[in-house]
Amino acid sequence: MSKLSAAITAVGGYVPEFKMTNKMLEDLVDTNDEWITTRTGIKERRILKEKGAGTSYMAIKAAEDLIKKRGIDPSEIDLILVGTATPDTLVASTAAYVASEIGATNAFAFDLLAACSSFLFGMSTAASFIESGKYKKVLLIGADKMSSIIDYTDRTTCIIFGDGAGAALFEPNEEGLGLQDEYLRSDGSGRSYLSMNAGGSIMPATEETVKDKQHFIFQEGRTVFKFAVSNMADAAANIMERNDLTDKDVDWLVAHQANKRIIDATANRMGIEDEKVLMNIERYGNTTSATLPLVLSDYESQLKKGDNIVFAAFGGGFTWGSIYLKWAYNSK
Ligand code: UT7
Repeated sequence: MSKLSAAITAVGGYVPEFKMTNKMLEDLVDTNDEWITTRTGIKERRILKEKGAGTSYMAIKAAEDLIKKRGIDPSEIDLILVGTATPDTLVASTAAYVASEIGATNAFAFDLLAACSSFLFGMSTAASFIESGKYKKVLLIGADKMSSIIDYTDRTTCIIFGDGAGAALFEPNEEGLGLQDEYLRSDGSGRSYLSMNAGGSIMPATEETVKDKQHFIFQEGRTVFKFAVSNMADAAANIMERNDLTDKDVDWLVAHQANKRIIDATANRMGIEDEKVLMNIERYGNTTSATLPLVLSDYESQLKKGDNIVFAAFGGGFTWGSIYLKWAYNSK
């Protein structure tokens, strides 16, 4: 019997209706459309406005989109992973709630926290459960309601982030398609450059932490940018070298949508043409754990069976890496 590999067999996505444009941000902070567009590539981002709705609201919708497209019964799903930096609540797993709401009655479920690399690391986790032969259907969701931790008076962060969710189903494949190789890394010395300081075990919530705006995301943009450019590009170049992939062999780059300049630098380092670089940052901004699956969901119709895709991401922690995957289906 040939070796089992873990293939993506369906994708789904969801973004909220409300569009926050660069123009709208001009009314909130001292910024302008030209600065945001040239420095980040972002034109608008989606914001979840529904009262009382958290990250699970979007994760459920992305999962339902996938389930409908793939035509499976949710009770067939063995495991649900939710990659997120903004779980519904601390302690109770968001994934467990998502599983119940979509009717995945036979699944176990847990959250995976690796900031903007959550989905990338989740791909490795999902694939391992499939490759071991233990499970047949693993649903990986990347979802974040970044607007819940953004200070809309801070121009250095509020222009970047948006809300959204994407999902991918992993199943066994005997044709050699699916995940081929991975290069994943982390460096905890970078945690102070991109963080939310309060609300965790080091600094529990107090009146002071709220007053000091410590429950919002903080980012030292320039430092993160420097690390993101070099590490994401190095990881993607490394994956290509290890697998003897030339620029001609790579069909698509699916990179974390944090900043168009970081994606361009990665593509440049890989030596690939612009047409192979899949981007939707101009419409959604940085949706943290949801960027990679939302790219897959938006461009699904262009992906062909056997296509070589290089994934790359960089995020808080620091966490980063690259994955080489062979696409397993032609969409209908
Ligand atoms: O997803 C997880 C990983 N995160 C990332 O990968 C994000 C990485 N960082 C970035 O994408 C970029 O650093 C930013 C988009 C956050 C900022 O772009 P930058 O080119 O690094 O700008 P900067 O922070 O070096 O600031 C340049 C100037 C500063 O003014 P001075 O000091 O030169 O006078 C800022 O005060 O731009 C100013 N500035 C702004 N101006 C207009 C900062 N934010 C804004 C703004 N509008 N929103």
